[in-house]
Amino acid sequence: MDKIIVLDFGSQYSHLICRRIREFSVYAELVPYDIPYEKLQAMNPKGVIFSGGPSSVYNKDAPKPNPEVFQMNLPLLGICYGHQLIVDKFGGRVKRANKEYGHSILTVDNGSSLLSGVGNSVRAWMSHGDEAENIPENFEVIGHTERSRAAAIANRQKSIYGIQFHPEVIHTENGMQILKNFVLNICGAKQDWTMENFIEKTVRDIAKIEGNVLCGVSGGIDSTVAALLIHKAIGNRLKCVFVDNGLLRLDEEQEIEKMFKDNFAVNFTAVNAKRQFLDKLVGITDPEKKRMVVGEEFVRIFTEFAEKNGPFKWLAQGTLYPDVIESGVSKGPAAVIKTHHNVGGLPEWLDLEILEPLRDLYKDEVRKAAAILGVSKKLLSRHPFPGPGLAVRIIGEVTEKKLHIAKTASKIVEDELEAAGWYDKVWQAYAAVGDDKAVGVVGDERKYGNIVMIRVVESTDAMTADWTRLPHDVLAKISNRITNEIDEVTWVSYVISSKPPATIEPQ
Ligand code: XMP
Repeated sequence: MDKIIVLDFGSQYSHLICRRIREFSVYAELVPYDIPYEKLQAMNPKGVIFSGGPSSVYNKDAPKPNPEVFQMNLPLLGICYGHQLIVDKFGGRVKRANKEYGHSILTVDNGSSLLSGVGNSVRAWMSHGDEAENIPENFEVIGHTERSRAAAIANRQKSIYGIQFHPEVIHTENGMQILKNFVLNICGAKQDWTMENFIEKTVRDIAKIEGNVLCGVSGGIDSTVAALLIHKAIGNRLKCVFVDNGLLRLDEEQEIEKMFKDNFAVNFTAVNAKRQFLDKLVGITDPEKKRMVVGEEFVRIFTEFAEKNGPFKWLAQGTLYPDVIESGVSKGPAAVIKTHHNVGGLPEWLDLEILEPLRDLYKDEVRKAAAILGVSKKLLSRHPFPGPGLAVRIIGEVTEKKLHIAKTASKIVEDELEAAGWYDKVWQAYAAVGDDKAVGVVGDERKYGNIVMIRVVESTDAMTADWTRLPHDVLAKISNRITNEIDEVTWVSYVISSKPPATIEPQ
């Protein structure tokens, strides 16, 4: 498989460079900027990209790539800080400039293969405080903006290019064309990164492992795809366990069991642990405490299953590429965002090695793989659901009554959004319930019932979210059905807080 390697100098957009390249079926990988030369060589890239980054090349501690990178005679593309690195490396001069953030108009000066087909004058997204004052010998300016005389430079003979702007962000017009020009035409990379190839290769690799594999499945797309890939490779040496904690969506436990048993023929065990979870949650009202109790109980049940059904050599996990990068494995200068504890506190004596077949994939790639592996459209398009389930959608103590309300009302929300064509347009949609009550009238009688909160949000990554402006008639229908169909509810409210300052889940 042809590869493009992106050296990460710490830009918030480094990730996006890989994503964009993979979108046109070439494999791209983000690695730390100071990756040892032997490792880089062993990856056998077709070309190298230097990402942007927050540093200035003239600072003493500025991150620099290993000098051997320049001796590989590979096509190079520097973006923003990467552009300045190239200017500096080949004898040009970088100076502090007036900051340039946002849109600029890039004028293409000289026909070059990098900017071919981009247009003569395009919007380009800038985010920099330094610029190239003098460009190195043997380089020419191929594009400029009003503020940056050398916004795009090229050494055509050596196939080395630098651009001050960010082609990877959508605000740069025809940015994708620039990346395509570099990757396909200048590096000559083949478009052979397809999910079919990925599945074939991964299955071949997993088939080589010895010993049994344990995989916890949640019914979510990541663990399902991980399990299906491993099953394709080693059949019944994979054992899947699904822990029903009683905190799932209405009838979800049956649906998950049915999906695995009917469609996939994998070795699947459902552990009904509703009672244990609900007993442990009695009297607990603090949100963090609830999460902890659910987590601990899960580990206990999972460990019990492993002891009884082992020995296992491997624990499979649906870790994705952004998780690998976020947990600092890339170890570029980008700050470690958070540590993922994917093993989730399993005891060391289980002595399990970790198998992560999806660790090279982005979420949209997992979806493509899932479709190829025969995962139903319903699961593919299902909204994300929090690990601790309804424990975080029930405010205060988790009780059977509140579980019933949250499950039934959420099902109504989902069904009505589906019917009105809104389900696929929103990120998450559910009903939460707490202990607040309000008076209603039924017939001639007063009734004191629960208040249900409907939460429907739009988001792209759950880091920020906005409440969805649903049409009033859809809201009216939802409200009507909830108060008519759920005896315990008298009032329905709609949550109109965005994240931040609110979060998506109430607990
Ligand atoms: P918040 O409530 O923090 O949620 O805005 C952001 C996203 O994460 C999901 N979420 C969780 N997912 N375990 C998970 O696997 C958790 O403990 C958890 N808490 C929140 C939430 O559904 C939303 O998509």
